[in-house]
Amino acid sequence: MSGEIFKAPTGTHDVLPPESARWQALEATFAAIVGAAGYGQLRTPLFEDASVFHRVGEATDVVRKEMYDFEDKGGRRVALRPEGTASVVRAFVQHRPTAVPWKVWYSAPMFRYERPQAGRYRQHQQLGLEALGSDDADLDVEVISLQASFYAALGLRRVLLLINSLGDGNCKPQYLDALGAYLDERRSDLCDEHRQRAAENPLRVLDCKRSACIEATRNAPRMVDHLCGPCKDHFERVQAGLRALGLTFAIETRLVRGLDYYTRTTFEFQATALDSAQNAIGGGGRYNGLVESLGGPPTPGIGFGSGVERVLLACDAEGVFATPAARVDVFVVDVAGGAEARDLTAALRAAGIAADRAFDARSMKSQMKSADRSGARLALLVGEDEVAASSVTIRHLRGEVPQEQVPRADVIDRVRSLLS
Ligand code: HAM
Repeated sequence: MSGEIFKAPTGTHDVLPPESARWQALEATFAAIVGAAGYGQLRTPLFEDASVFHRVGEATDVVRKEMYDFEDKGGRRVALRPEGTASVVRAFVQHRPTAVPWKVWYSAPMFRYERPQAGRYRQHQQLGLEALGSDDADLDVEVISLQASFYAALGLRRVLLLINSLGDGNCKPQYLDALGAYLDERRSDLCDEHRQRAAENPLRVLDCKRSACIEATRNAPRMVDHLCGPCKDHFERVQAGLRALGLTFAIETRLVRGLDYYTRTTFEFQATALDSAQNAIGGGGRYNGLVESLGGPPTPGIGFGSGVERVLLACDAEGVFATPAARVDVFVVDVAGGAEARDLTAALRAAGIAADRAFDARSMKSQMKSADRSGARLALLVGEDEVAASSVTIRHLRGEVPQEQVPRADVIDRVRSLLS
């Protein structure tokens, strides 16, 4: 044997069974909750024209530093999507759905060239949703509450909801001027990175986790104090709505988020059971200018994305939403090594009974081990005696129930009644 043993690329991971069943269950839980609120699934390509992302996030690390972008064989600049919102907005502008709000959800891998660590990967999976075409504060409340319902349905309890408002095209520029002037006076106190970059994107400084920036911005102007009348009203309506639904939240005036497109409401859910470096299990906000920036008509929008890997880490930390158990109902043990096991398995499956079987006429002991591992409740034994008598032995794998031999012609009905 020669040659290299390949591994999944750095920062990526395989999801093997049975863990993958947990991923499926997670997506099913999400789909059920948001589907029942009128959201339909949107599936967009994994890659887009790189300009789609440049247009919406030129000043952000996600787009500037972390994007997997490259030229394809036709000389087009494309990028693996680093996040879902830009693709959804691109699809909205392309297809111009007439019924608004256009409410869609997605389950999709995202690609960011980050430094991998626990809870931070180069490919991660997001469950998210977007609603385009309404600026109603009740829609903000709907979106945030659906995300909260998702976490609650998983059994997560140690989850903190943080909200903020970043204002709009009217008040945000004035606030950025005030923040810029404040930072300008303290430039020498900022961390190395932000000493250079504060002017370009002053909001990022508020999000910086380095102590120099935290210290220097302790008394920085806060967006919530600079909101114009309509933004203030909107933010108050969102808070009243959350309270009315019994959702506990805290206003975090430093919550600016890693993408540039946000206006008005922003929010993040943090799992307090996780380390602060990767405790953001999901976040989102309004982006009332994004559709226009991608060439569409003025259209408000709001949504969130939630990281599957982090949500599952939080579930592990809280001991909830375990990997689902049984995979099949019955397991066919083939001691005879003939056609009977093949035909019996096919008949079971055709009757809608989840069935697996052993191959290669392995020893009875080894097949029974496989039967146990399969999670099945019943083992159907086909040995020489059974073949001779046109019968099957049904052995119970859980509990102390005696085994029984039933005629082959009755086995489907008997299995069905034992399983029900
Ligand atoms: P984001 O905060 O960049 O927002 O990502 C959403 C979530 O994805 C994060 O809260 C986190 O759970 C997860 N996540 C992000 N990066 C990684 C990573 N490298 N490894 C593991 N998990 C990660 C967005 O992407 C926006 N598109 C959300 C949104 C939707 N805003 C409005 N609509």
